[in-house]
Formats: sequence, structure tokens, C-alpha cells
Amino acid sequence: MSYFIRPRFFLFLFSIFISLVFLPNFANSLDLITPTEPLTKNQTIVSSGENFELGFFSPGNSNIWYVGIWYKKIPEKTIVWVANRDNPLRNSSGLLKIGEDGNIQLLNEAKESVIWSSNLSSATTNTVAQLLDSGNFVLRYVDVNLNQSAAEEDNYLWQSFDYPTDTLLPGMKLGWDAKSGLNRHLTAWRNADDPSSGDYSFVLDIDGFPEIFLMDNGVKLYRSGPWNGLRFSGVPEMEATGPVMDFLFVMNKSEVYYSFELHNSSLYSRLVVNYSGSLQRFTWIADSQIWNLFWYAKKDQCDAYKECGDFGICDTNASPVCECMNGFEPKNPQAWYLRDGSNGCVRMHKLCENDGFLTLNYMKLPESSTTFVNTSMSLADCEKMCLKNCSCTAYSNTNITGGGSGCAIWTTDLLDMRQYSSAEGGQDLYVRVAASDLDQAGNVGSRNDKTKRITMIAGISVGILVMLTITSLCFARNRMKTQNVQRNTTTLDNKGLRERSQDLLLKASVIPSKIDYSGESTTEELELPLFDFSTVALATDNFSAANKLGQGGFGSVYKGMLEEGQEVAVKRLSKNSGQGIEEFKNEVRLIARLQHRNLVRLLGCCIDMEEKILIYEYMENKSLDSILFNKERSSLLHWQSRFNIICGIARGLLYLHQDSRFRIIHRDLKASNILLDKEMNPKISDFGMARIFGGDQTEANTRRVVGTYGYMSPEYAMDGVFSIKSDVFSFGVLVLEIVSGKKNRGFYHMNNQLNLLAHAWKLWREGRGLELMDASAGELKSTFEVMRCIQVGLLCVQEQAEDRPNMATVLLMLSSESALLPQPKHPGFCLGRRPHDTSSSSSKQDESCTVNQVTVTMLDGR
Ligand SMILES: *[C@@H]1O[C@H](CO)[C@@H](O)[C@H](O)[C@H]1NC(C)=O
Ligand SMILES: *[C@@H]1O[C@H](CO)[C@@H](O)[C@H](O)[C@H]1NC(C)=O
Ligand SMILES: *[C@@H]1O[C@H](CO)[C@@H](O)[C@H](O)[C@H]1NC(C)=O
Ligand SMILES: *[C@@H]1O[C@H](CO)[C@@H](O)[C@H](O)[C@H]1NC(C)=O
Repeated sequence: MSYFIRPRFFLFLFSIFISLVFLPNFANSLDLITPTEPLTKNQTIVSSGENFELGFFSPGNSNIWYVGIWYKKIPEKTIVWVANRDNPLRNSSGLLKIGEDGNIQLLNEAKESVIWSSNLSSATTNTVAQLLDSGNFVLRYVDVNLNQSAAEEDNYLWQSFDYPTDTLLPGMKLGWDAKSGLNRHLTAWRNADDPSSGDYSFVLDIDGFPEIFLMDNGVKLYRSGPWNGLRFSGVPEMEATGPVMDFLFVMNKSEVYYSFELHNSSLYSRLVVNYSGSLQRFTWIADSQIWNLFWYAKKDQCDAYKECGDFGICDTNASPVCECMNGFEPKNPQAWYLRDGSNGCVRMHKLCENDGFLTLNYMKLPESSTTFVNTSMSLADCEKMCLKNCSCTAYSNTNITGGGSGCAIWTTDLLDMRQYSSAEGGQDLYVRVAASDLDQAGNVGSRNDKTKRITMIAGISVGILVMLTITSLCFARNRMKTQNVQRNTTTLDNKGLRERSQDLLLKASVIPSKIDYSGESTTEELELPLFDFSTVALATDNFSAANKLGQGGFGSVYKGMLEEGQEVAVKRLSKNSGQGIEEFKNEVRLIARLQHRNLVRLLGCCIDMEEKILIYEYMENKSLDSILFNKERSSLLHWQSRFNIICGIARGLLYLHQDSRFRIIHRDLKASNILLDKEMNPKISDFGMARIFGGDQTEANTRRVVGTYGYMSPEYAMDGVFSIKSDVFSFGVLVLEIVSGKKNRGFYHMNNQLNLLAHAWKLWREGRGLELMDASAGELKSTFEVMRCIQVGLLCVQEQAEDRPNMATVLLMLSSESALLPQPKHPGFCLGRRPHDTSSSSSKQDESCTVNQVTVTMLDGR
């Protein structure tokens, strides 16, 4: 045909010829844009199998317009491609047409300027644009003979698949093509209503051993790892998709790309870089008409690029997640032990004298853009080659199928490695180390090494535990002697901790937003209503057993109904408070002034002869223990409300300790003293009881130990020393109870006589913290909060009071996703004997820490 093209006249004739002869055929094709049939705003074209549709759209409520492609059969408009993403139409009257030069062109409203074009430089004529059933929009020559072969890929002059937006469809190639010079990549939208190029992209790096990076404006966020013949080295989940789709990675001189195919073309799946910087693969579920999130990345801490720095290995099953291999040590030990592994590890011994190789199993291969690759070399030759070159740091197979083949050699620091827990992920990596860093066995993997380390730690901690128990028991016996020492070490706000919390504040980039510290209401003089006894008696039906809600160390609680119909809780104090009436009134007035949304509100009181009665607001959902420890009801507390409760208690306690004008130490914080309102908001009750019952110093050795074993800190239970840190201890126990749904008292693990703290500590040390979680708390969106709560809980129950954080720090830890938490030390608990009696008080003979749930009101501390 080319002889037609030169003289313009013939060209013109040809166009007419085409129009006359062939257009009847086009008219039947709904998937074409032809020179004579442009597309206007109200029109669309639909691919032959009706999978995709192309036309004008306006995202959200904007009045700017784009040309895009979406699924025809999916009601919720899912845009998979946008032509003019960075150059929208300012109103709807654009025109998409085949231009005089044969390009696809989008003209603006005035139809005078081209705002987007397929932009082929060599002008051609006789072209049509067609939307294929794959979602590919192609420009090709008119097929004069209506020959099918014209629709084949080689004949495309231009195709939308070469210019992806944020979506990879089946058959689309992500990567490099030598012929066109294009490196096709995905770029996220700017936001849900703005398809213009956003910050995030997913780009194949073809250098070295190719792999794909998720980037934020060129900064690496996540790495797929190189292709190992089966999958990307860092995406173990790829294997499990076998029945539904196949992944393809092609690497040769003329192209390097990644692609996927669905086995059944009537299924839909797409890979998207979303505008908040995640990769997501969705599949369409026709039955329920939803896009199901099939896979996503980044998934966990170890997916974050260089989480553990140079030479560090990230393992989500380890705690902390970062590890150094044999022969390496943390570069910045202080940051490392505060769980900031980003400085990585450094070699302890120089290389290139007498070296060997550590075998690391199940590894995501290190970053490989400068890696040497030879796909035909054997592993043995690879090792030899590595040993010969002093700058070689590691080697591996390039392909793990069929027993492994090929050779990849790293000559740089090893970056962004992670270890999976089984053969479903990763592959073997051989890291060069000095021979002295290898075991006698010669070739020891980090896994063995790690198990050894864990066993060692476990051994040490069991040792410490036994020692501590023995010393604790001794302490208990010799309480008189140790008292002074204890008192000296338990300072309210010791320096070390203050420094640490400052450190935390600095590290926390997110200033707590979820949590607010205030809540104190107006503090004008409150005159507390005084009720007469007869009113209270009437309200509670004369303190009838039917109205009794519970009994605690301080007295009994009844439900009551005031004449106006208001429900109240009436606490009738036991008679031995040892306070005079004026003293009592003063204390109650003070307590009435403590107002915070996480404290139960005191409505009034009643004093009559020997009777001292407090009237509180009534809480619909009663006490936390009645739900948390009840098999039938515990599922009412799904994780989000548990987390809410933990934060609420922390806020209330912080207020008592610090933010109210009177420092109040609760001294009997426990699940039964946490009440829940209609919305399951927690409110602390019985605060201030310690004041009413004597003992208002901030830290003191008290005549009476008031509290509940199981929630008592060791220094308090054994020596009667209390401080805000004893409350922090009780809070920690409470947190672990809320996470696990188990009472500290009643928890015995199989045959070990471990209590809840010991159990939590054990799981935590073994990196199995999540197993602590109560199954009835339901599905989790993220395990982060749970793990954080467990860690905070363990920090609060540490043996040494000065190691425990104060409540301000606790709140900060709970609310900030980025604060680095210190590793908890050994918790202070008493290795359990089973409670052999459940009597309500402990006597001196019984003081070696039986765990007993009943409030101990009278225990002579001397
Ligand atoms: C077409 O390509 C030229 C240079 O190759 C470029 O300057 C121009 O902006 C492109 N036009 C469009 C609409 O993409
Ligand atoms: C493909 O999927 C459709 C719809 O789910 C189903 O009806 C059809 O049988 C499947 N075809 C094959 C070959 O599995
Ligand atoms: C992006 O994907 C991640 C991971 O699936 C998800 O958590 C996030 O909500 C997504 N963002 C948007 C805006 O959809
Ligand atoms: C060792 O490897 C480095 C990096 O690939 C290379 O530049 C150097 O030439 C190699 N040296 C020898 C002796 O092969």
C-alpha cells in the first residue's frame, strides 16, 4: 500500500475509498474508533467480549474529565487505565479521534488543541483504535482484508498496555522492552478522585539480578526480591495462587518483565499501587459482587525496606525482629537493643584470610541491583568464584527449581534480607564469613544458631527466675531487713525512667492523637449532695439481697433507683474505716471533685450513725470481670473495644496519678473495679478508697496492705511498700488479662504451674506473644496493637518498680505507632503454688505469694 501514501491526492482518495467501502463493517464494531467515527462524551466503546469499556469519566464530584477504561460488567466503576491522567479536560465536551497523522488524539472542548495523543512520531495513516477484550487499547492499521492477523500484537503501532497507570491487568507486562526502550511501571493515583501521577510507583529494576521496587518519589519502600524461578524471593504467597493464576517472569536480551495470566478468562484480577503506597491484588467475586483483597504488600515490619539495615536479617517470628548473623554484631548496640535495627550489623572479623560460608535457609535474597548473575553456572563453581574475589560477600542459586541452578554473586553489603520460617518462603543464601566465625561443624545456618541462642536465653531466664524466686522467698522471710533497701529503690519518678520516656517522646514522630490526657471538668466548688439514710434505704429496697450487685473489701454494692427514676449504685462501706465523720466528709468531697470520663462519678453520700454510704452513677454493663472472664459473654468484647478499655483505664489512672490536683494511688486496681457503661467505656471505681481507709502518702509503708493478690506488685505484697508504680503493676496485670481473657489467679498452663504473667512472659520470650490473645476477641485487622499491648503489659509488671513506666509513658506507648518500646525485663510474680485456700484474708504464715483474688483488707505489714 505504501505507494498510495506519497502523493497527497492519492491519500485523499484512499480515505474516501476506505470510508465508502469499509465503514459499513466498522459501524457494526462497537470496539473501534475510526477516522470517521470519533468518540464524544456520551459515547463509549465496548470490547468484543464485553469485558471492558472505554469512554469519558469524571472522578468524584470534580468537573474535570478524563478518558479511561473500566470493567464493563462491574457496577462499581473500576478504572484500570487513564489516557490523559496529567492533563484533564476542563469540561465534558472533549473529542477522542484518529487524527490526520494517524495518532489517537484527545481534543479539548474547543476542539482546537490536542491535550493528549498516542504521540507516534512517524505519521501514518489508515489506522483505527480498538479496545480489546484484555483491556488493551491499541492503535493498528486498518485491516483491508479484514484479516485476523492484523489484530496481532506485532501489528500494534501503539498500545495502552505500554503506558500503564496504576493497574496491572492480566497479560500486561511490567518491565523493560529493548525495542521500544520503555520500562513499563505502575504509578499510583494522587488520591481517590485524582488520577494524576501520585508519589508511589512500582518499578522493575533491570540491573544486576532484576527485582521490583515499590517507591515513594524514588525512595525505596519495599522490594519484591529477585525472581527465583518459582516466585519473587520475597513473596512466598505467590506459590499458593497456582489454581487461579500463573506468574511469568521473562529475562533475556530483548526484554525483562513480570506478568500474570488467569486460568479462566472470565475471572478478573488486577494488581494496583494504591494512593497510600501499598500494592494490592484484587480478585472479583461475582457471587457477592465485591473486589476481594487477594494479596497486599507491605505486609509486616520485615517487608519495610532495610528494616534491619546492612547485613541485618529481619524475621517476624523473632523478638526483636532484627538479628545479626554469626560473625556480625549490631553496629549501634544502643539503638539495636531499643529495637531500632536500621543501623544494621557489622562484621567482627576481616574477610579474605581464611573464609567460609554460612548457610542461611529460607532467605529473601539481599538487594541485588549490582549482583553478578550467570544462569548456567553451578553452585560449586559459584562458591569458587566467590572465594576468589575478596569483595564477594555472598552467593546463591539464581533458580531454585529442579534442585537449583545458576549463580548470583554479591560484592556489596547485604541489604534488606529477611528470613521466612519454612521452605515455602525464600531460599538458601551463602554468606561469606571468617572461618573463625563458623562452628566446628563448618557450615552452620543462622537458624540452628538462633535456636541455640533462644535456648540459651531461655536457660538464663529460667535461672534468673529460680534465683529470683528464691530471693523473693528470702525477702519475704526477712522483710524487716530489706524494707529500708526497698524503700530507697522505689522512688516515684526515677531518673532513668524519665530519661527513657523522653527518649520515647523523641522517637515518637506521631504525637498521640487518639488519646487525650485531659478530661478534668470545671473545678468550681462542688457541694456534694447528702442523702438521708431513709432515701437510700428506699432506693435499694432496704439493701435487699435482690438488689445486691457485689461485695468487695470495702463493703457491699447495691443497685438503687432514686425517686426521680435515676438508677444508681450504692456502696455501703464496711464499718472499720477508722475515720471520723468530718474526715470522711472531707475525703468524699475531695473524691467528688475528681471528675474524668474514665472514673465512675460520685453522685452523693450519706452519713448516718455508723453508716457511711457512697452513691455512684450506675453502669449498665457492670464490671469488666463479669464479661471478660465469662465464656458466654467474653465475645462481646472484640479487640477494638478491649483496646479502648485498656486506653481508657490508662487515661483514668494517669488522671489519678498526675493530672488531678490530688495525687491518688488506687491501690486496688483490678477487673472487678473497672465498670463498663452502655458503650463499653471503662470507668475506674473505688478510687480514693485507699484515702478513706487511711494511707494518703504518695509512697509509704502502710500498716495495712490493701489490695488484691494477683494484682499486687511484689514490693507491695511483701513489704507493704506502695507507690504509683504499684498501681502501674496492677494495670499491667489488667492489660494482660484483657488481652488474654484469663484471670491472673486462675491461669495454670498445662502441667507447669505458671501464672498468667509467667505464661505471657514465656510466650513473649519465645516470640509467640500473639498466642496469648483471647480467641473470643474476634478477627484482627492488625496484630500490631495486640503485640504492643502485651509488651506494655509486660513492661508494667516488671519485677523492679523503677523499671516500670509511669502512666504518661504508658499512654504514649499505647498511642504511638512509632515509639520504640524497651524490651521488658523479668516480671515480678510469684511462682505459683496453686491457691490451696480461697479464704478472704492472708495471714502472715501464708504470705509467700499465693495468688488469691479476694481483696485483702487487713494484713499486718510488720
Ligand atoms: C509527544 O512527544 C513529544 C516529544 O516526543 C512531547 O514533547 C510531547 O509533549 C508529547 N505530547 C503528548 C501529548 O504526549
Ligand atoms: C470459568 O469461570 C466461569 C464463571 O465462574 C465458569 O462458569 C466456567 O465454567 C469457568 N471455566 C472454566 C474452563 O473453568
Ligand atoms: C492501600 O492498601 C493498603 C494495604 O491493603 C490498605 O491498608 C490501605 O487502606 C489502602 N489505601 C487505600 C487508600 O485504599
Ligand atoms: C571482584 O568483584 C568486583 C565487583 O564485581 C569486580 O569489580 C572485580 O573486578 C572482581 N575482582 C576479581 C579479581 O575478579
